[in-house]
Amino acid sequence: MTIDRSPMIIGSDHAAFGLKETIRAYVAAKGITIEDAGTFSRDSSDYPDFAIKVALRVSRGEYTRGILMCGTGIGMSMVANKFPHVRAALCNDLFAAKMSRRHNDANILVMGGRVVGEALACEIVDTWLAEPFEGGRHQQRIDKFDGLSTIELP
Ligand code: RB5
Repeated sequence: MTIDRSPMIIGSDHAAFGLKETIRAYVAAKGITIEDAGTFSRDSSDYPDFAIKVALRVSRGEYTRGILMCGTGIGMSMVANKFPHVRAALCNDLFAAKMSRRHNDANILVMGGRVVGEALACEIVDTWLAEPFEGGRHQQRIDKFDGLSTIELP
């Protein structure tokens, strides 16, 4: 299986801290450079802080891919998708992971640490790193919204 080996950035809140540690190590073991944007403990934290850190770097083009996790993945998705050129996809199953790449060219994978187990999360990451974007009519559709933003970049 060919996977995208571009460096990436990962972040989570406390609710997905354990899963974030697992996924960070799993990705690093593949020889992929992965920056950890936190959180760094199980202490209560606010998911937007980490979503902003990761989405900003992807939005600026400093990373082509990122991974975000919170309890459900919903809050992280909401925040990340406010950034221009960020296409964050909540994928708590393999079909969503596959289609988010094929049709949506997702550049941030979001998972719920209270939804998926570690083994499934690792498979979701594998699928997401391997599936290519199909382009064509899907690119045309992405072009209709990709530059839109509800915030100004700092
Ligand atoms: C934290 O309790 C939880 O609300 C957060 O991790 C996330 O699921 C929000 O969408």
